[in-house]
This record gives sequence, C-alpha cells and structure tokens, in this order.
Amino acid sequence: MSLLITNIKELLQVRATTSLPLRGEAMNEVPSIKNAFLLTTNGRITAYGAMENIPENYRDYEIIDGSDYLIGPGYVDSHTHLVFAATREKEFQDRINGLTYEEIATRGGGILNSAAKLAGMNEDELFKDALTRLELLNSLGTTTVEIKSGYGLSLQAELKMLRVIKRLKQETNLHIKATFLGAHAIPMAYKNDRKVYIDLIINEMLPAINKDQLADYIDVFCEKNYFTVDEMLQIITAGKSYGLKAKVHVNQFNVIGAVTAAVKVDSVSVDHLEVMNPEDYNALAGSNTIATALPSCSFFLGIPYAPVTDMISRNIAVALATDFNPGSTPSGNMNYVFSLACIKMGMTVEQAYNALTINASHAIELQDEVGSITVGKRADLVFYKDIDSLATIPYHFGHSTIHKVMINGKFK
Ligand code: NIG
Ligand code: FE
Repeated sequence: MSLLITNIKELLQVRATTSLPLRGEAMNEVPSIKNAFLLTTNGRITAYGAMENIPENYRDYEIIDGSDYLIGPGYVDSHTHLVFAATREKEFQDRINGLTYEEIATRGGGILNSAAKLAGMNEDELFKDALTRLELLNSLGTTTVEIKSGYGLSLQAELKMLRVIKRLKQETNLHIKATFLGAHAIPMAYKNDRKVYIDLIINEMLPAINKDQLADYIDVFCEKNYFTVDEMLQIITAGKSYGLKAKVHVNQFNVIGAVTAAVKVDSVSVDHLEVMNPEDYNALAGSNTIATALPSCSFFLGIPYAPVTDMISRNIAVALATDFNPGSTPSGNMNYVFSLACIKMGMTVEQAYNALTINASHAIELQDEVGSITVGKRADLVFYKDIDSLATIPYHFGHSTIHKVMINGKFK
C-alpha cells in the first residue's frame, strides 16, 4: 500500500543518515526541501525529493496534495509520566499561595499523593485515562513516547502501571518505550528503613518486571530527600543485570554529583538538569549520554530553566521533552516545549526543533526508526497548516499549528 504526497510547501528534517545525535554547530541546521514530494509504502518512508525530480511512474500512486502544508517528522517525547490516577490542582493552588514543590512533598503531597491515588484505581480505568491522554498528545504532533512507572511504589502497583504501558504499546499505533521508575520516592512506610525499599526494588520488582518483559529502561529520581547517588548507582547496576539501560532524573533542584555518576555508568540520558556545575558539563561533554531538558516543568514550577545553550556550546547532545505528569508538568504539548525552548532557554528555532525530533529519538535509542524524514523510517508525519516557516510553530506559543498527524503512513 503506497501513498504519494505531492507539492509539499516544505518538507522538514530530511536526513540521509541519523546514526549520531547532533552536537554544536550541527544543531543549528534543519535540512529541508521546498516544493517536495514524499512516498510512503507499507507505513515506511520509501522516497522523497524535490517535485522537479519526481519519477514519472509515481503518477500512478494514490496522491494527496500537500500544497497547504509544511510537513515534518512526528515529535518524539522521550520523557513522560502519562499513566497516573488523578490530577493535583490542590498542590498547584498551594504553590500559587507560596509553598514550594519540595515543601508540598515533605507534607506527604507530591509523588506520594499520586501513589496513594493510583493504589486505589483499577487497571482498566488507569488504561482508559492514559489512552485519552495519549490521543491528545498525538493530536498535538507526538507519535513516539517514553512512559515511566513510578506512581506505584509497591510491587503490585508498579506492575499494574507497567502492564498499562504494555497495553498502550499493544493497542495503539504510537511507538512507546517503557521505563521502570520504582525509585521515584521512598514510600512513607519505609521512611526510616529506606534500605528495605531499595532491596524490594532490586530483589522483587526487577525480577518480576523482567519475567514479563515489562520495561525497556530503568530510572531513578536522584535528588535530596529522594535517592542518593550511591543508591542510584546500586539501582542502575541491578537494572543493568536485567538488560535495562538507565535514563535518570538528575539535577532538578540540587547538584549532588548525579550527572558525573550517571554518565560513568553509560546512562542513555540524564534528564532535568535545571541546575548544573562545571563538573557536570565536563562529564557530559565527550560522552554519549543525551542531556534532556524539560522546560515546561521549569515553567510550571517556576524553577530555573536548564542552561542548554551552555551545553550546546560544549558539544553536549541536547534533547527536549515534556515531562508530562500530574505534579510538575500537567501538559504534554511538544509545541509549547518548542516555544519555551526558544523564548526562555534561548535556543534557536533550528536547535529546538532538532532537540524535539532527531536528538529526542537518540534519547530512547529509536534513531533508526523515527525523528527525521529518512528512507526506511516510519512514516510518522505532522502536517502544519497555514504557516510559511518552521519559526511560525514556536511563534504561536500555546497554539497548535497542526492540521493532521499520520502514523505508519495512515491518518487516524
Ligand atoms: O520529573 N522529579 C521527579 N518526577 C517528576 C515529578 C513527579 C510528580 O511530582 O508527580 C518530574 O518532575
Ligand atoms: Fe520526570
């Protein structure tokens, strides 16, 4: 089954090869073709080019007219917590009234609040709500998503979350990666015995997850009042023994040496990075670890934005993601992340777009499948309407310029 899109106003992010993430100056270029065609066959991109070079026999394919559209690859959201039981607008109001995220968490709010709600929710309902959120994200241009557990914090509830993610993988056509985040917070019951909870993660949760192949990655929230650097390393090492590579939450509020430690054990990505010191930059520069910034979390919590331009100038590979979750980022809109990256973090339009697409695909090791218009990759396409340039997407902050989204060569 083939589909030909003709007369595309501009085809964005066309790349012959994407085996390495973009760094430094290369982040400033988004290769594109004006007045282009694109052919999909059986859900894959099979050819593209300028209209003047379109082969004569292509006229026989089913044709869509692309003259109204800028077309680019689907967004890759490499960091979300989109399976959750309830929103937390009460905490939002508490923050408006002057409490900090950390103060709310110390009073039993935050992650533990979400875990209490999730414990009481049945798996089908959890799935249904997550599916609705996923469909919303998809309409906003996201076609590939990483989803974390971490609101379970018990063997049964972590497995429940991961089964929901597995079902989302099976019952939707989005590309999904699952991350086990049992080390998201120490449950109240283990407050004075944290070692017992860490042992539970390592000796009970991980083997059960491995048995049913429920996770692709392992994550730890390495932060004051959550997990120490040594605990993170212990958990990453245990994950590795089951074939799970690490993607970790580090440097959200405090610098505690987590970046250097995570890079040393070959983490695929380190995420957040709102606060950085020279040692962190040095560890990341020259490593293969992707630095993932989450500007809508900074926006929502009113905390510093990750200093991404300093990272780019040091040749660190930067990606952008939403961090969609009920506590720190109740939004999964990559278009808004695009705007914030430009407006608040000083990224150029090209740097931000590369961070949302191709570098994000590297942050979940799907660079051979998604993140660019490349022959052989999935035909996951975003159709932007009534705009003339890439810059118009972040310019319309808070709006969506997206008219339709294709996954595997098919519209919804
Ligand atoms: O990435 N920082 C840790 N985890 C989430 C927030 C979780 C929550 O507040 O529910 C984050 O911001
Ligand atoms: Fe997160």
